[in-house]
Amino acid sequence: MRSTSSSTSGSLLLTGGTGLLGSYVIRDLLLDGCDLAVVVRRERKNSAAARIEAIVRFWEDLLGKRLPRPTVLEGDLNAPLCGLDAEAMRWVADHCTGILHNAASLTFRGPDREQEPWKSNVGGTTNVLAVAKAAGIRHFHHVSTAYVCGLRSGTVREDDLDVGQEFGNDYERSKVEAERMVRDADHLDTVTVLRPSIIVGDSRTGFTSTYHGFYVILRLGHTLLPHVPWGIMSRSAIVQVLGTCDEDTKNLVPVDWVSAAMAHIVQTPAARGRTFHLTNPRPVPIETIARTVEEAVRARLTAAQGPEQRQDGSWLAEKLLGQMDVYKTYLRDDPVFDRTNTNSVTSHLPCPELDAATLRKLADFAIDNEFGRQPAFPIVTDAARPRPTVGAAPSA
Ligand SMILES: NC(=O)c1ccc[n+]([C@@H]2O[C@H](COP(=O)([O-])OP(=O)(O)OC[C@H]3O[C@@H](n4cnc5c(N)ncnc54)[C@H](OP(=O)(O)O)[C@@H]3O)[C@@H](O)[C@H]2O)c1
Repeated sequence: MRSTSSSTSGSLLLTGGTGLLGSYVIRDLLLDGCDLAVVVRRERKNSAAARIEAIVRFWEDLLGKRLPRPTVLEGDLNAPLCGLDAEAMRWVADHCTGILHNAASLTFRGPDREQEPWKSNVGGTTNVLAVAKAAGIRHFHHVSTAYVCGLRSGTVREDDLDVGQEFGNDYERSKVEAERMVRDADHLDTVTVLRPSIIVGDSRTGFTSTYHGFYVILRLGHTLLPHVPWGIMSRSAIVQVLGTCDEDTKNLVPVDWVSAAMAHIVQTPAARGRTFHLTNPRPVPIETIARTVEEAVRARLTAAQGPEQRQDGSWLAEKLLGQMDVYKTYLRDDPVFDRTNTNSVTSHLPCPELDAATLRKLADFAIDNEFGRQPAFPIVTDAARPRPTVGAAPSA
C-alpha cells in the first residue's frame, strides 16, 4: 500500500539521489506523485541532470511506464550552501518545504577530519542545514544509521543516540555527529531520523548499484574461497575462521523495503519528529551469510578455473581478518534494534525475510555484474531532453 498523504505542500529536496537507496527513493516518491527536487553533484563527464535522467529512465524501462522528472539542482554537499547559486537558492526557498538528507560517504576509516567520511557526513550535513536555514525549510528528514549505536549490545531504543558507547569505525562516529547536529538545529520545526541497518540489494531482483557492507564480505569471499577446500564455511569451521558464535546474527535490510518505508514515513505528517529503526525484525545468522557466499562463489567455479585448493582455515582466517581490517566489526553479533516507532507507522509494510534463497539472489547479482564494473544506470545519450537544471549549465 502506498501512502496517499503528502508530507509537504511544496517540493521535497532530496540529497544522495544517485546512490543505491536514493535511486529507489526517487522511484517510490515519483510513483507516489511527490513533487521532488534533488541536489546532485556532476561527474567528470556527466551533468547532474544527465545522471538523474539515467536513473529515471532505468525505472521507466523496468516499470514500463512514464515517470515525472524531479527538478535537478547541481551541487556538492562539500561546498557552502551545497554549491547552490543564488538562482537555485531562490528556487529552493520558493518551492521546497522539506528536506530528505540521504547523501553520505560510507568510507569506514578516516582519521583525518578534513577527509571522508567527515567531509561529507559532518561538513555536508552542516551545509545542508545551512540550506534549510537560508531557504526557511522547517521539516528535516535525516538518514542516519542504526549503527550510531556503535559496539553496543542488548537492546537499542530508537531514541538512544550518544550514551557513552564505543564505536567500530569513523563512519559510525561521523554519523552520530551528524545526527546530533541535525537534532540540535533550532531553526527546524521537526527532525525525523531514519536509521537503516545494513542495506543490501533488492529482495525481488537482487539488484544493487553500490557495493558496501555485505558486498565487501562477498567480494573477499569471491577472491579467497577458491583457494580453500569446499565446506570451509560450515557451522563448525566458521567459528574457527570468523571467530563468531553459532547464534550471532547481522541485521540486513533490502533496499526496496527501506525505500518503501522511508517514502511512507516522509509523506506521513504524523510521523514527523520521531526516530525510526529501519531494521529487520528477523536478522540473518552469520553462518547463513557465510554459507551463501561460499555457495555462490563455488557455483561459478568451473573445473578449468578452479585453482589448487591448498590453503586451510587458518590461512583463510588470516587473510579475511587482515583484509577486512575496519570491517571487523561487521563480524560481531548485532544488538536488538527496538522498532516501536517503525512498527507503529509501517505495519502495512513488513520487512522481507532475507533467507538463504534471497541472499543467494543478492550474491548472484553482484558476482554476475562483477561488483559494479559497468554503471548500473547508464547515461542516456539520445536526444530526449531532461527537465532543465536549476542553477547550472544544461550540459550533458
Ligand atoms: N548502505 C548501507 O548499508 C547503509 C546502512 C545504514 C545507513 N545508510 C545510510 O543511507 C544513506 C544512503 O546510503 P547508500 O547505501 O545509498 O549509499 P551510496 O549508494 O554510496 O550513495 C551515497 C549517495 O550520497 C551522495 N554523496 C556522497 N557525498 C556527497 C557529496 N559530497 N555531495 C553530493 N552527494 C554526495 C552520493 O553521490 P555520488 O553518486 O555523486 O557519489 C550518492 O548519491 C546514507 O546516509 C548512509 O549513511 C546506509
